[in-house]
Amino acid sequence: MVKPSQSLKWWQEGVIYQIYPLTYADGNQDGTGDLRGIIRRLDYLNDGDPDSATSLGIDAIWLSPINTSPMVDNGYDIADYKDICPTFGSLEDFDELLEKAHQRGIRIILDLVINHTSNQHPWFLESSASHENPKADWYLWQTPFAGQKLPNNWQSYFGGTGWKYCEARDQFYFHTFNENQPDLNWHNPDVRAAIYDIIRFWLDRGVDGFRLDASSVYSKDPYFRDNPLKYEATDRNNYNNYHHLYDKNLPETHRIIREIRAVLEEYDDRALIGETFIDNRLYDSVIFHGVDQDELHLAITFEFPFSPWYPGYLQREIEKNEITIQPSAWPCYFLDNHDIPRHLSRWIDCSLCVDSEAIAKAAATLLLTVRGTPLLYYGQELGMVDNTDIPEEKLQDRAVVQSETEETPDSRDGARTPMQWDGGSHAGFSFGQDIEPWLPVHANYPELNVQTALQNPDSILNFYRRLLRVRKQSEALRWGKWRTLVHYPHEHMVYLRETKTETVLVAINFSYEQPFKRDVTIDGESWTVLLSTHYEAGKLIDLADNLQAFEVSILQKSR
Ligand code: BGC
Repeated sequence: MVKPSQSLKWWQEGVIYQIYPLTYADGNQDGTGDLRGIIRRLDYLNDGDPDSATSLGIDAIWLSPINTSPMVDNGYDIADYKDICPTFGSLEDFDELLEKAHQRGIRIILDLVINHTSNQHPWFLESSASHENPKADWYLWQTPFAGQKLPNNWQSYFGGTGWKYCEARDQFYFHTFNENQPDLNWHNPDVRAAIYDIIRFWLDRGVDGFRLDASSVYSKDPYFRDNPLKYEATDRNNYNNYHHLYDKNLPETHRIIREIRAVLEEYDDRALIGETFIDNRLYDSVIFHGVDQDELHLAITFEFPFSPWYPGYLQREIEKNEITIQPSAWPCYFLDNHDIPRHLSRWIDCSLCVDSEAIAKAAATLLLTVRGTPLLYYGQELGMVDNTDIPEEKLQDRAVVQSETEETPDSRDGARTPMQWDGGSHAGFSFGQDIEPWLPVHANYPELNVQTALQNPDSILNFYRRLLRVRKQSEALRWGKWRTLVHYPHEHMVYLRETKTETVLVAINFSYEQPFKRDVTIDGESWTVLLSTHYEAGKLIDLADNLQAFEVSILQKSR
């Protein structure tokens, strides 16, 4: 279980930070985020100085898509895989970003959106023009059986049928997401070869890895059989009402991922991370590591985002992971991303605690001290919450469409608003220029921004900064065994992270209640505070004392 530190890879020990480029930083001052903006903010992420007073200290950036795109799904609809969208800059800008990031010890992970292309991609334009062209079989084309309106009952994840009629071919094509995002036919060897060529293109340029978008839906049933409707489900136009036997998580998808992994293995030290979003079934996600560890390095599972802010539930998810993931594989956790409401917005209502700062610090501690690789989402380190006041005419998420039965589609824009850099115009998004950003900044930016937070020793940002440093300096936190000391957690969690030479205890009190002891089983040892919401670092702590309300403490067993 416990591995010697030397053999651990950067994607196991490091902290990965997701940037949504449209709203991170606007370097060319046109209101839309771009690569030059990110370059200017690199020092904030990691300036290369382990004792820096201003930088966060992350190890890798995952960039949401930056390739050429008509932006119907804001980059998740690619029209040219080998170029950068002019919105974000140029290939030269990308090379500069890569070089400057590497100089600071930051790796770059690209989002690889290969389940589908944009309907503006030349491959689709060619494929959809006729039945007789070299790319005619590059997408999932079907003709309905006589008397049927649609080829089958497969739905789009974004709402309604997944089939779209194309007049030129008098056929339908399938789209798991928006109709502007036709799914590729992964059974076609030419498609696979073209994608692997794209992967090599970016690896040759020096990228450190990929996040495979929608990596559990690549392969579809070659016979296009109907998915069974779930028991008692009545709405046939809802993706979630079906058992996805024939359009998701097919065995063939594992073969594809093994092939992609083999391409990565031609290069040194690159990482393959997959969005294994499979109806929240952990087992199905973890087998994406591959029976022989030849698929994903990291399978992004959705335990934390789908949990309420409740220790018993969260601990159960960690325990499931610990039991299910093979010793040679590695867990990966996240709280927020660009598709879901931010955790402080999700959890504030269902929590025992109404203090969002306390939740933010406790959640940060959980994410960064559980065994596995943490993914942070930009702004999470500040305590950013969703902007739920975006006027309808300013919404940008055009991909999520209304199904026939659902009244209001859920826009994902609330969690995608501009990073809050300072108290100036539009939170400093365009570096001091008064330019209206792509999405409106959250109204709380005058109080909640990087500049202000750096000056407040108790801010969420400074807590994250300290947490990242504590993690970096502790082998137990980076790769030690996880063991809970509370078997029936109610309103607190206490767990150990252990290696042969270091033991760290993490205690999180989720509530106002204070009857919880840090531990009753370990005595006679002294424990030093590494980081705490209630005690100074370096203080010695008695484990038999009760936890204080909302206390978060990370303690190291003294030698
Ligand atoms: C991405 C979404 C995107 C979808 C289609 C997802 O899983 O995270 O943002 O809309 O794939 O590409």
